[in-house]
This record gives sequence, C-alpha cells and structure tokens, in this order.
Amino acid sequence: MIFETHAHFDDEAYDKDRDTLLKSLNFHGVEALVNVGASMASSRQSIELAKEYPFIYAAVGVHPEQVEELNEDTMKELEEMAKEEKVVAIGEIGLDYYYDDVPKDIQKKWFKEQLNLAVKLKKPVIIHSRDAAQDTMEMMKEYQGKLTGIIHCFSYSKECADFFVKSGYYLGIGGVVTFSNAKKLKEVVKEVPLNRIVLETDCPYLTPTPYRGKRNSSHYLPYVAEEIAKIREISVVEVIRITNENAKKVYQI
Ligand code: NI
Repeated sequence: MIFETHAHFDDEAYDKDRDTLLKSLNFHGVEALVNVGASMASSRQSIELAKEYPFIYAAVGVHPEQVEELNEDTMKELEEMAKEEKVVAIGEIGLDYYYDDVPKDIQKKWFKEQLNLAVKLKKPVIIHSRDAAQDTMEMMKEYQGKLTGIIHCFSYSKECADFFVKSGYYLGIGGVVTFSNAKKLKEVVKEVPLNRIVLETDCPYLTPTPYRGKRNSSHYLPYVAEEIAKIREISVVEVIRITNENAKKVYQI
C-alpha cells in the first residue's frame, strides 16, 4: 500500500470535507501518511490530526518563509511538540530563495537551530530547499553522518541528488514528475537508487497530471507511482512496495 510522506491536510483547502476525504484514503490504497507542519500553528494541527486518525503521523517544524515566528520560547515549544507521540520528523525546514521575504542569514540561522534539534532528538528531517541548492548542501555537509531525512519535492540536478543520496537522504518525488516539462527530474528519477525514493504529494499543491491545477490529495499518488514505474521500467506495484519500505525506514515506523 501507498505511504504518503508529505501532506498538508491541515490546510484550509480541506476545511469543508477533511474528515470524509481522510476516511476515504484507505480505500484508495493509502496505508499511512505524514502530515507536515510548516509553522507553529500547522505543526500543532499536524499533531492533532495524528491523534485523531490512526494512520496519520506528524512532522513538526517551521518553513523558511515562516521562521520569523521563531525565538527562544517558540523553539522550546517546538521541542516539546517534537517529543509528542507519533511525531516522526522535524520539518519542513530549510532554505527558500525564490521569494526574498525573509533574509538569507535569518533563514540559515533557524534552519540550523532546527537541524540541531533533530540531531538532539535523533529524528529525521524533512528539507524544503528551493533555489538554494549550494547553500543547502554547504549547510548539510556539517551534519553528514549525524542526520537522515527526506529532500522534499526534489527539484535539483543529478549531481545534487548524488550528494544527498551519498549523505544518507531520500528524495521526495511528487506530482511534478508527471509534468511533461519535468525533463531534469525524470532523469534524476531514472538514475537514483530506487531504495532512496519516497512518494509525496505536498497537497493541496502540485497535483499530478491529468489533474494539474486542481486541489491535490493523497489519492492521486498512483499517478506519481505510475510515472516512476514507466521511467524505471518496473511495475507500479513494485514502486509502491519499495517506496513504502523506504518511507518506513526513514521515519522509523
Ligand atoms: Ni510541504
């Protein structure tokens, strides 16, 4: 069955039908999912969802565009949240240079603080890195051998993929791989070891073809698995089985 490694079902996009949708996922072949925090509030909500639904796990962390809400007190609160039952990772954390709302040095400071928290609690990390490949790799070098995790919505080069795989990370592959213009990503998916790929949606965003543009949800993951199967010339069943094993390994479930 499918393991969804990255979803945001706390998002207001699901306010009208969240419970119905979540309860239907099992029927659509989804065995488990990790709801990922991107702010203090959504981290709290992720824990609530994990408490309510047996198949949901939570990740807590503050996204680079939200790190200005972090300070000594909120960091302590985050640490307490991270110790809660069913919290399987610290994330999503990282660097995002696409929008320059938050200065780079501030992003780096809080990324590092949250990486240190993951080391301290022996939790994997979920990395969000956009237009910041060099700085992300530079910072992650310091943690080689001390951390593992997922490079979420992997969008960089083959060389960059090699670096992360060698450093012990998994690559999160989602709807983007089904886009006809995602040539670079398809090449990465063709080359990286299969035991380092995990499935993710990042829903409500990044809906795979043929539903691109609509609200995303974990029940569209078979389209992602099908595309990976096509690229790797193996069966969809095999892709779902291997990525499920990988997800359980990285999240220690
Ligand atoms: Ni996300």
